[in-house]
Amino acid sequence: MTHSEIDATAASRVIIFDTTLRDGEQSPGCSMNLPEKLRMAATLEEMGVDVIEAGFPAASDGDFEAVQAIARTAKKAVIAGLARAEAIRPAERRRIHTFVSTSPIHMKYNINKTPDEVLQMVTDSVTLARNHTDDVEWSAMDATRSEHDFLCRCAEAAIKAGATTINIPDTVGYAVPEEFGALIRTLRDRVPNIDKAVISVHCHNDLGLAVANALAGLDAGARQAECTINGIGERAGNAALEEIVMAMRVRHDKIPYSNGIDTTMITRASRLLSTITGFSVQPNKAIVGANAFAHESGIHQDGMLKHANSYEIMSPESVGLNRSQLVLGKHSGRHAFKSKLKDLGYDLGDNAIEDAFARFKTLADRKKDIFDEDIVALVDDETGRDHEHLRFASLQVVAGSKGPQTAELEVAVEGALRTVKAEGNGPVDACFNAIGQIFPHQAKLVLYQVHAVTAGTDAQAEVTVRLEENGRTVNGQGADTDTLVASVRAYLHALNKLTVKRTRGEPEDSDVMQAVAGYA
Ligand code: KIV
Ligand code: ZN
Repeated sequence: MTHSEIDATAASRVIIFDTTLRDGEQSPGCSMNLPEKLRMAATLEEMGVDVIEAGFPAASDGDFEAVQAIARTAKKAVIAGLARAEAIRPAERRRIHTFVSTSPIHMKYNINKTPDEVLQMVTDSVTLARNHTDDVEWSAMDATRSEHDFLCRCAEAAIKAGATTINIPDTVGYAVPEEFGALIRTLRDRVPNIDKAVISVHCHNDLGLAVANALAGLDAGARQAECTINGIGERAGNAALEEIVMAMRVRHDKIPYSNGIDTTMITRASRLLSTITGFSVQPNKAIVGANAFAHESGIHQDGMLKHANSYEIMSPESVGLNRSQLVLGKHSGRHAFKSKLKDLGYDLGDNAIEDAFARFKTLADRKKDIFDEDIVALVDDETGRDHEHLRFASLQVVAGSKGPQTAELEVAVEGALRTVKAEGNGPVDACFNAIGQIFPHQAKLVLYQVHAVTAGTDAQAEVTVRLEENGRTVNGQGADTDTLVASVRAYLHALNKLTVKRTRGEPEDSDVMQAVAGYA
């Protein structure tokens, strides 16, 4: 599918290009494995994203496979792969996104090329890309610090060579809205063939202006916005998809453009990403923060009761945030459970449903009220664990002030049960020491995070563990009403992922980032 097949015919239609799986995934600690990328891509597609940038195929075999796998499964969305000029050959039926730095500082210090050489690279890379697909996006890296005349010449050359989208990144997050809007207008005024391409904006958030800049770009005539869920991305991140889309919806009077996003999927996408990456959003984050729809002060609460609009410019339901609902109980059967999974957007195979149902029954015995959030945590915890090298079996812990804190842990290693007992500086340390005895490793624990899924002391704990080994980072998740069991499950999950990464010889995260920046 090419961009011309996206319903972008209306002059006011904005193409939403999501780069969570490329620019977002490239930021430290955010790396995802293939099943996680596939789940995220399926959610993005379901929410109506027009273009999913699935990765950087040239950076690693893992990224190459992920882009291909997503391209194979995607039904509606265009799948883009970021390629450098020399790395676009493997591209099949996806958009090829190629870029070259155009600012004096990048040309001199990062790629060591003269402006004439860069101009030639633009033509060569786009021409080569067009041999593989007729949907080619060209980006001027560090566009906002580039000389305008030169930027216009590069854009003209890219379109002449066949680029169908011209992307203007504010790579270092330096622009301010008025200036960024003026830059887009300059391109429209001065590039003679600009009407043959869609102008795109890609804004970073170093000064907290990414969304404002992106909207200024749209106001000036850009019709593609590049963004990420929760605004993740290099350094301070990218423009947040949910903020751009909700600004268009809530302030349609001032930002009169349409898009294809089902906004009621926003909360689900945001939570899925947080669960996968272990990056929770700040509580006061616009649209998806835990406090975005909370009204604590008495005056606000009183106003809300009298008329919701007095303090709420959009409803929680419009972003898919439904008040916690009691959903299922101890006596709910398989049928009710299955239909709840369907409502929550899960499409699981029979075995996975059986596993999740068994865990639901155990949970229902231990927790009085079960909410949507509980089911989501439970299923997310179970997903993708079928063929794990290390599988949690049981845990017995001695905790408390008397000590010694001890963990007796049982883990199936390739199906064979092993039991060990370990002491530690506190129960979590004892548990992780026990794991170290069963599976000796050098990985460093760089993040240990616990979050309560719902209110109440019987709430499930959702634990994220981030491990780092030789520059490779992985995140593991675990959920259980027992925080220590959840911790062990999360740690084992991370170790399993690390083992897969090691076996596949995936590169260090820093190599991937350098490759994207063009330094490698
Ligand atoms: O920020 C940037 O310049 C990028 C390009 C690769 C598009 O992410
Ligand atoms: Zn970027």
